Amino acid sequence: MPEENQARHVAIIMDGNGRWAKRRGLPRAMGHKRGVEAVRKLVRSLEGTGIECLTLYAFSTENWKRPEEEVSDLMNLMRSFIRSDLEEFVANGVRLKIVGDWRALDPDIVAMLEDALERTAGGTRTVAVALNYGAQQEIAAAARAAAEEGEITPEAIERHLFTADLPPVDLLIRTSGEVRLSNFLLWQMAYAEMIFVDTLWPDFGPEDLRKALDVFAKRERRYGGR
Ligand code: FPP
Repeated sequence: MPEENQARHVAIIMDGNGRWAKRRGLPRAMGHKRGVEAVRKLVRSLEGTGIECLTLYAFSTENWKRPEEEVSDLMNLMRSFIRSDLEEFVANGVRLKIVGDWRALDPDIVAMLEDALERTAGGTRTVAVALNYGAQQEIAAAARAAAEEGEITPEAIERHLFTADLPPVDLLIRTSGEVRLSNFLLWQMAYAEMIFVDTLWPDFGPEDLRKALDVFAKRERRYGGR
């Protein structure tokens, strides 16, 4: 049984890859590449943190507005990430989950992801990657599905969210100093604590996560009570 002040589900808005690259005079793609390395390190460090689920905002429904080349760089990073890290996920008992309208991505990515989901299905710790994800779209679709079943109640909506099978989000972290939710997990954030750090995503490491968990553990959560 986890302690009350221990975060079971942590969600992260991984921001600042572009600025990380710019500061070094490198192409943006390099920032995203280092961003993937930060993801890899973080996933490897989950053991012993008490985190059962880590949800990462990798590509939003708004990210399609970026230049074609950058969208394609991000998609290629996704392909190579699955190729290089899938075996490690399986070996370490990590269950991959995808949230968002990911079936609208390129067919080869959809096929890779389907395979990855199947192969990691037995994992006990979840890494959920948000791909082509938008919270308003998610909530609208869930409300529609709830309406079709009968009643639109918070419980009914919740049952139709991508995250229905995950524990409630305890903590949201956003890197790079921006203080916004950017259409990420709006419903799920109802009682979550939020931590905004200035660190750019490629520089965010396991130590930074540990620090955020310590800050979280000291906060008093009231859920509207007292
Ligand atoms: C924000 O940085 C980051 C993104 C839009 C993409 C995040 C994606 C990754 C870290 C890689 C893919 C993830 C996985 C799981 C393989 P930005 O480009 O908005 O940075 P900026 O605000 O400094 O320009």
